[in-house]
Amino acid sequence: PGMRAPVSRVAGAQMVAADIAVGVKRNPNMAKLQAGYLFPEIGRRRNAYLAAHPDSRPIISLGIGDTTQPIPTHILGGLEGSAKRLGTKEGYSGYGAEQGVGDLRAKIASKLYNGLIEPEEVFVSDGSKCDIGRLQLMFGNAVVSAVQDPSYPVYVDSAVMMGQTRPVDSATPQGQHPGIVYMACNPSNNFFPDLSNTPRADVIYFCSPNNPTGATASREQLTQLVQWAKKNGSIIVFDAAYAPFIKSAGTPKSIYEIPGAKEVAIEVNSFSKYAGFTGVRLGWTIVPSALKFADGTPVRNDWNRVMCTIFNGASNIVQGGGLACLDDEGLEEISTLIDYYLDNAKLLRETMEALGFTVHGGADAPYIFVDLKGKSSWDMFSHILETAQVVTIPGAGFGPGGEGFLRLSAFAPRAACVEACERLTAMFKQ
Ligand code: MLT
Repeated sequence: PGMRAPVSRVAGAQMVAADIAVGVKRNPNMAKLQAGYLFPEIGRRRNAYLAAHPDSRPIISLGIGDTTQPIPTHILGGLEGSAKRLGTKEGYSGYGAEQGVGDLRAKIASKLYNGLIEPEEVFVSDGSKCDIGRLQLMFGNAVVSAVQDPSYPVYVDSAVMMGQTRPVDSATPQGQHPGIVYMACNPSNNFFPDLSNTPRADVIYFCSPNNPTGATASREQLTQLVQWAKKNGSIIVFDAAYAPFIKSAGTPKSIYEIPGAKEVAIEVNSFSKYAGFTGVRLGWTIVPSALKFADGTPVRNDWNRVMCTIFNGASNIVQGGGLACLDDEGLEEISTLIDYYLDNAKLLRETMEALGFTVHGGADAPYIFVDLKGKSSWDMFSHILETAQVVTIPGAGFGPGGEGFLRLSAFAPRAACVEACERLTAMFKQ
């Protein structure tokens, strides 16, 4: 159809981009998204505050869950070693296996899953967020997805982009997308959905330890979830990205600790929060061979097809870092890093409690979920930014069920965390 809008010309042949429109129709699913992605929006508001207050004291971020501590020595050695090998004839490698190097798949299976999972069920990737997007591509637009409400925004946003939802209309409850099953998780149900009153969904996204609430699901609760999925013929996508923060004995770190889970669950995970790999990028997804679609096709086959088609394997340098993470020295370093962030979480939790707030999470999780006693979370976000120069995340950003709560991240450096607590105390004690 050609150009649809008049094309202005400036300085001869140079076109003004804003005036140009092509004949390609916008993907209507993109138009269904109600706002920009949460974390860039937080960054935008922070920058707007700084632009308006150039003399402000430095802003402290308790916002996005981004790691801040350096990569420890042994793990760094793994990254360096694999980078150096690329400079040698013997060590050079090009395209890797799309599923990840065999040694890393085997080490993930043995060190992190204790043999519950076979190496060929492990698919190494550039992170769980990317894998969630690719899982949506595999499931397509004809499935119904269920999410905990509140939840990590990627599950809902990627479902909307895929076309699993209908346009929001006047009958749509505030903040929801028609077509998604929202499973309320809040203090009244101990952050675990009432499954007996939840409609069936094809794919159930479930995160424990939870982002944003910091709640962990017990063995009994996860057993209920697996049984519910079995009864309904659903697939669970279990997000275990925060598993190493679990210190309480008996709380499962993987869905595969639950009998029967291999027939109903995929697990996504990542080295991001384990080892400070948020910028390095390395994750994995487990697709058990026993998991089959309604027509009997192993889900693993389709996942393999997706990964071979639109992914070229995780960086060979980075996979060397992953192997080092799973050496005994690497696991020790991860444990030290996690303890550091958990100490921050304790500090944040105790500070908010001392200020009279009811607080959730922050014990087996790096997120603290603060009850605002009915106040608007975006208003509180702005109020804290303007008064204490601390960035937080409004609960409403994680879905309508997050309204009335504020998420604090424990991933800041210790000194920043201590100062943020002082500023919050000064602010709320007034
Ligand atoms: C968060 O802040 O929720 C996470 O850092 C986002 C992510 O892991 O993508």
